[in-house]
Amino acid sequence: MTRSAPRTFAVKSFGCQMNVYDGERMAELMRAQGLSPADAADADLVVLNTCHIREKATEKVYSDIGRLRKKGDPMIAVAGCVAQAEGEEIVRRARVDVVVGPQAYHNLPRLVADAAAGKAALDTGMPLDSKFGALPARRAVAPSAFLTVQEGCDKFCTYCVVPYTRGAEISRPLAAIVDEAKALVDAGAREITLLGQNVNAWTDEEGRGLDHLIGLLDRIEGLARIRYTTSHPNDMTQSLIDAHAHVEKLMPFLHLPVQSGSDRVLKAMNRSHDRDSYLRILDRVRAARPDIALSGDFIVGFPGETDAEFEETLSLVDQVAYAQAFSFKYSPRPGTPAAAMDGQVEPHVMDERLQRLQAALNRDQAAFNAASVGRPCQLLVERAGKLPGQMLGKSPWLQSVHLDSDAAIGDLIAVEIVQAGPNSLGGIERVQAAA
Ligand code: 5AD
Ligand code: SF4
Repeated sequence: MTRSAPRTFAVKSFGCQMNVYDGERMAELMRAQGLSPADAADADLVVLNTCHIREKATEKVYSDIGRLRKKGDPMIAVAGCVAQAEGEEIVRRARVDVVVGPQAYHNLPRLVADAAAGKAALDTGMPLDSKFGALPARRAVAPSAFLTVQEGCDKFCTYCVVPYTRGAEISRPLAAIVDEAKALVDAGAREITLLGQNVNAWTDEEGRGLDHLIGLLDRIEGLARIRYTTSHPNDMTQSLIDAHAHVEKLMPFLHLPVQSGSDRVLKAMNRSHDRDSYLRILDRVRAARPDIALSGDFIVGFPGETDAEFEETLSLVDQVAYAQAFSFKYSPRPGTPAAAMDGQVEPHVMDERLQRLQAALNRDQAAFNAASVGRPCQLLVERAGKLPGQMLGKSPWLQSVHLDSDAAIGDLIAVEIVQAGPNSLGGIERVQAAA
């Protein structure tokens, strides 16, 4: 069946920040094709940029497709990690027009044209020449922008689908990254977050690591802040840790997932670090940057996890005192080794463990926020708040801060934190003394 070519589009991204980045680039690509952005509810083309990390995330795609089909008859493209993992299965399970994997979305215009012509439109290739060269240049962006520098994962944690959906670890070339960073700054970015599934595994053609890249970005005029995420403990080199002491633009924040506090569980997860080696890395990070905000990821109920092993996760949390963290119930993923392991944990046990873990993490987050009161800091203003005159921004420690201010979006302003809640802070603008 042929249909008319879409004139409007919407991209809906689920999951991680790398998907947010991919979603932005797909939107830029569609704009460059002459399509105009619209709400998902009435766009001619809806791109669902999906996540496969846990079962719940995957199921969202199918409920979204159902909802879109009930409302009208848009062209539906499934992109992202579900597209990569399920491929043609999606076409069998649901009526969609285009399936495109995370390494192939630069081909979206051709796939959309094929679908309009009534042809099959599926591309889950992982070509050797990267998609990045085929994407249009960056234009207007928010003050805080993402920049993917590394993709894929070679670590093969036994619970995780990423090595299968995103492929092997690859690093984008240094010059292309620096060019994109400059283009982002020219387009309005004041803060850049370098992204990768294993961002600290990034190396350039000569084997230099992420600290070298950060050093080069530090010299870009107009760029005020640099962040990076997500890091793996095994790739946390001393030179990257040292960058936290020396590079002023590098923000005092580190997301370093640990997953569990039990050595037996870490081994079964194939994490290749243990509790002690992880804690020693954090000691070195804190020595380099004493005020650093630490963040992590946790999985409760990994197959075979006993009560005592879960207690070890709680004791690790007590020891670290994270500024914030993400925690999940283990979700068996098709094709991963852990899905076939004995000792799958009962749902009610997982629920109880997650609640206890989250209570501990929330307690630490509230304490970290409370300790910020009285602190002078810089705020990057990102958007207007709900109340008149209110603006919202981020502290160096990635906390959301609201305050009354005439500052414009993109301004860096001096503030003092005066109030702390569990999820956000209140600030007042400090009047800078004349020089
Ligand atoms: N089940 C639950 N959580 C998972 N994660 C990855 N795979 C799974 C899974 N199968 C979590 C890990 C990872 C984060 C991105 O998602 O904590 O760090
Ligand atoms: Fe998944 Fe482990 Fe790779 Fe992270 S390091 S993406 S958890 S396999």
